[in-house]
Amino acid sequence: MLLAAALANPLFYPAALVVAAAGWVVYQRVFSPYAGIPGPFWASVTRFWYLRRVIAEDIHRCTKSLHQRYGPIVRIAPDEVSISDPAAMKQIYAVTGGFTKTDFYTAQTRISVSPRNDLVTERDEAVHAVRRRLVNRMFTMSSIMESEAHINRVTEAFFQALSEHATNSKTLDMAQWLRMYTMDIIGELFFGRMFGFIQERKDIGGYMAAIDAVAPHGMRVGVMSSWMRPFQMLLIPFSSQFLPGIRGFKALAAESKRYVEERVGMKTERRDMLGALLQIAEEHNPEFDLRDVHMEAYVAIFAGAETTATALRSTVYHLSRTPHARAKLQAEIDSAHRRGKLSPMITYGEAVELPYLDAVLKEAMRVQPPIAFTLPRHVPAGGRTICGRFSPAGSRVGISPYVLHYQKSVFGEDAEDFSPERWLGPDAARMDRYMFQFGYGSRSCLGKNLALAELYKLVPQIYRAFDVRLVDPTKEWKEQGSFFWKHSEIEVLLVKREVQ
Ligand code: HEM
Repeated sequence: MLLAAALANPLFYPAALVVAAAGWVVYQRVFSPYAGIPGPFWASVTRFWYLRRVIAEDIHRCTKSLHQRYGPIVRIAPDEVSISDPAAMKQIYAVTGGFTKTDFYTAQTRISVSPRNDLVTERDEAVHAVRRRLVNRMFTMSSIMESEAHINRVTEAFFQALSEHATNSKTLDMAQWLRMYTMDIIGELFFGRMFGFIQERKDIGGYMAAIDAVAPHGMRVGVMSSWMRPFQMLLIPFSSQFLPGIRGFKALAAESKRYVEERVGMKTERRDMLGALLQIAEEHNPEFDLRDVHMEAYVAIFAGAETTATALRSTVYHLSRTPHARAKLQAEIDSAHRRGKLSPMITYGEAVELPYLDAVLKEAMRVQPPIAFTLPRHVPAGGRTICGRFSPAGSRVGISPYVLHYQKSVFGEDAEDFSPERWLGPDAARMDRYMFQFGYGSRSCLGKNLALAELYKLVPQIYRAFDVRLVDPTKEWKEQGSFFWKHSEIEVLLVKREVQ
C-alpha cells in the first residue's frame, strides 16, 4: 500500500535518484577501497572528470599538477589511481609483477585486420608472451641494422626535400615533416615501400588527419566506464572529423593490405621487417598467419610513427629554444666529422659514439615522453601495497611517463628545464633507471631499437647539414596530449652549413 502510494507520487522518482546519488557519493567517499586516496572530488565519484580532462587534451599536465598537490598517489576515477612514486614503476610493470593491462587497451576503436589481438592490445599475458616470443628476434638491434640501407633511402628523400626548402629559403612545419619521415620509414620497412608522404610533400590519402581524428576518440572511449561505451557516438560532437577519420583508417588498412599481398607474390632477396614477419608466418602458420603479418605491420604505423615523430619534434623544438645545447651538439658533430668519424650517411654505430647527442636525445624524451597517458594496469590477485596503501585485486593503477619524468627526487630540482647536461653528470645511470618513455617489463616497447636507430641517425644528419631556426623563437609550440601528442606550430627555416 505504502509502496504503491510512494510510486504514485510524482516526487518519488527524483527523490529516489537523489538518494541513490547521495548513497553512491557516500560509498565512494567513505566505504570504497579507494576512499581516502586524495584527488579531485569529482574524480572520486564519476569517470566524467577523467573524460573531461581527456577531451580537453591536457590530462598529462593535469595529472602532474595533481601529484604536486596531493602527493604520490592520486585518485583520478572512482576505481583508478595515478602513481608518481618512481619506486612503484618496477613493482607495477615488472615482468613477474602479475599486473595486467586493463580494458582501456581494448576499448579503442580499431579497424580489425585479424581476428586475433595485436601485441599492444592483447590483455592475456600468456597469449601475449607466446606472440611476443615469435616476433622478438626481428626487433633486436642487429636485425634492425639489416634494414639500415632502407632507413637511409628514406633519409635521402627527406634530405632532398629539406635541401629544397633551404635553397628556396622556404619555411617548413617540422611537426608535420618529421611525421611524414617516420610514416615513410614504417612504410619502407613494414610494407616494402615508402607510403609517399615525403615524395608528395603532403598527407596523401588524408591518413595523418585520420589518425588525428580517431586516436583522441579512442582515448576518450578508453577512459569511459564500460557501461558508457555503447554510447560513445555521443562523443562525436567532440570529434568532428571522426567519421571521415574512420574512412581514412579503412583506406589505410586496405592500402597496406595490398602492399603485403603484393610482397607475398614477389620473389625478392630484400631484408626488412615485412620480410621478417612473412618468414615468421611461414614457420609458424597457423599460429601466426598472413592476417597477423598485416596486423603487426599495420599496428607499427600507430605504435611506431607517431611516437618516434614526437621524440624527433621534441628534440628539434627544444634544441631550437636552447641555443647553447644546439651549439654544443653541432660542435660535437663537427669535430667527429673532421676526424673522419662520420660517414656521408651517418650510421647508427657512429652516432652512438657521440655523448652529447645521447644526452640531448634522452633529455628530449624525458621532457616529452611520446606516450602521454598513465599506462593502466589491474592489480593482481591478493592485492598489493603500493606507495604504502593497499590496493585490492582488480583495482586500476598506472604511472604516466610524463609525470614520472618530472620527479625532482630522481631528476633534480631543475627537472622542469631542458638540460642535456644532466645526462653527463654522476647521476646519469641512476636517472636512466627511471626513464619510462618506452614503458617497462613484459609490455615495454617492442620497437625501441627501431625508434633509437631513427633518432640517433637522423638528428646528427640534420644538424651537420643545417642550422635549424624557429621562425618565431618566442612562440611556443602547440601541444595537445591525447593517445599520442599532437604538436603543431614548429615553423622553422633551414640554413645550409658546411663543416670544414
Ligand atoms: C620513440 C618512439 C617510441 C616510444 C616512446 C614508444 C613507447 C612505447 C610504450 C610506452 C609502450 C608500452 C605501452 C603500454 O605499456 O601501454 C610501447 C609498446 C609498444 N610499442 Fe612502442 N614506442 C616507440 C616506438 C615504437 C616503434 C618504432 C614500434 C614498432 C615499429 C613500436 C611498437 C610497439 C609495440 C608493438 C608495443 C607493444 C609491446 C607489447 O605489449 O608487447 N614502438 N611503446
